[in-house]
Amino acid sequence: MKALVLSGGSGTRLRPFSHSMPKQLMPIANKPVLEHVLENIRDLGITEVGIIVGDRAPQIAEVMGDGSRLGIRVTYIPQEKPLGLAHCVMLARPFLGDDDFVMYLGDNMLPGGIKEVAEAFRTKRPAAEVVVHKVSDPRAFGVVELAPDGTVSRLVEKPHTPRSNLALIGAYFFTPAIHEAVASIEPSARGELEITDAIQWLVANGAKVRASEYLGYWKDTGQVADVLECNQTLLADLQPENLGNVDDFSDLGFRIRIEAGARVVRSRIDGPAVIGAGSIIEDCHIGPDTSIGSGCTLRATKVRDSIVMDGAEITGVHGLHHSLIGRNATVGTGPTGGSGHSLVVGDHTRIEVAA
Ligand code: G1P
Repeated sequence: MKALVLSGGSGTRLRPFSHSMPKQLMPIANKPVLEHVLENIRDLGITEVGIIVGDRAPQIAEVMGDGSRLGIRVTYIPQEKPLGLAHCVMLARPFLGDDDFVMYLGDNMLPGGIKEVAEAFRTKRPAAEVVVHKVSDPRAFGVVELAPDGTVSRLVEKPHTPRSNLALIGAYFFTPAIHEAVASIEPSARGELEITDAIQWLVANGAKVRASEYLGYWKDTGQVADVLECNQTLLADLQPENLGNVDDFSDLGFRIRIEAGARVVRSRIDGPAVIGAGSIIEDCHIGPDTSIGSGCTLRATKVRDSIVMDGAEITGVHGLHHSLIGRNATVGTGPTGGSGHSLVVGDHTRIEVAA
């Protein structure tokens, strides 16, 4: 079995970050979302992985390389325009050949893994097996209806009046039967070839389609609040480790990972929290629920419920919470002191200061 990972979308809901980085590289517990996805795929015993990439291809390739770091072999498949998930299957045909495959959205986190679904698909081998999850408002998703025997009887993309609360959550198992389906459908109202429509085509043409419910934590990391929530959830399962240097004047709580070469001086860290490689933490109070990337410098700062990305510098800020600080960003009191705020703010940035 092969895997096809979709990583071409631009992620405008994650602005300003999407101006400079693909959303699939957002760090969750100091690891890009896409890397979490690829690890999940590797855990299914799959080593041949095609990744659909758009105009952010060079950045994705720089981080994931040929996949050998993760024990997989990656083939990059360029997509010029985001023309839909079913279009991605068409583009990937030369890579997929006539193999079964799992298709996985590169910005969806299913930390519980989908081993049971893969097992069910391998044993029963329906034309398609989709992963579904109960959601409170299914209107933003592909929605699945089940027949009394548990097979899929109908799928509708983003219905106004959903007939079930089972949403497609970005992981699908297919036999090569999907190729005829994606070639037979028309673009949707939003101008995309929808994979939901292709699977519905299979159902309408008498093919067997099954659904497996995923009961664990799931998140589409499309917005800032989702990224922070997902970070908090993954940090809760953190394996504590200290590969850095913590001085005698510092106080560490539980579930804390300090990566290689990080230095913690006169600081308090409340877990769960991770301090990235080579970062310097001095006179700070970090955590809980906080990820500090690698190569960061934080001095005299208090931060919780936040993600600080690689190379950021924060000095003298005491009330940071629910914040996403971008790579190499500088936040601080400035050299001149005094009152007021001096800001250099990029496009689509959001800043909230206490009155
Ligand atoms: C896509 C699919 C939809 C699925 C969702 C999961 O939606 O079209 O069926 O439920 O991913 O995240 P999109 O994110 O393109 O709106």
